[in-house]
Amino acid sequence: DSSLLAESKRIAGYRAADLVEDGTVIGLGTGSTVFFAMERLAERIASGLSIVGVPTSYQAAIRAREYGIPLTTLDEFPQLALAIDGADQVDPGLSLIKGRGAAHLREKCVADAAEEVVIVVDSTKTVDTLSAPVPIEVLPFACGLAFRRLTEMGGVPVLREGVKKDGPVVTDNGNFIIDCNFGAIPDPASLEQQIAAVPGLLECGLFTTFAEKMRVVVGEGRECRIV
Ligand code: A5P
Repeated sequence: DSSLLAESKRIAGYRAADLVEDGTVIGLGTGSTVFFAMERLAERIASGLSIVGVPTSYQAAIRAREYGIPLTTLDEFPQLALAIDGADQVDPGLSLIKGRGAAHLREKCVADAAEEVVIVVDSTKTVDTLSAPVPIEVLPFACGLAFRRLTEMGGVPVLREGVKKDGPVVTDNGNFIIDCNFGAIPDPASLEQQIAAVPGLLECGLFTTFAEKMRVVVGEGRECRIV
């Protein structure tokens, strides 16, 4: 039920926030699970923790401001101690699908900048094989080409449209999002590389290169485990 799901997210978010060390600059991901990490960071700041955050989206920045978390930019701090972020699917090799919130382009930059990446999810997101449609940020100019190339790769691309807006979703960076269904993804690293090679595709939601510096905190009810 939804309260159990919220509890799973909360416990994962709190656990991740407790891994943050005093005096560090950290990446702040986007989405409802990271909000719980921010809630816990706010408590820790109130009891003396000193940190600065790089937000990965307008949403993350707005929420961080509400929680009193001081913010900076990736230009100011291109090296981060840690990034806390959510995900939409996690496989056993710690490859991820991200981007439900259309924030994965900045999230990937922040993950790259971070010495450690802590992913917070509830247990419904762990899967044997990634299979969700892959969110891809695309330069509007290149949208038609992107559809053609993705179809040639065996994908079924769909332009993401707004829920409270007519027409395409426009990202924080002024681009569009294509959700491309590839079915089961047995080799996510190779698919990420293929997508990255298409001009105009700015970044996709497959995260396959960070496993070595990544921990995944999986919340399940009142318990959580770190993978
Ligand atoms: C944002 O674009 C995504 O990458 C999020 O990190 C992801 O959708 C997680 O969101 P929830 O924690 O709300 O599921």
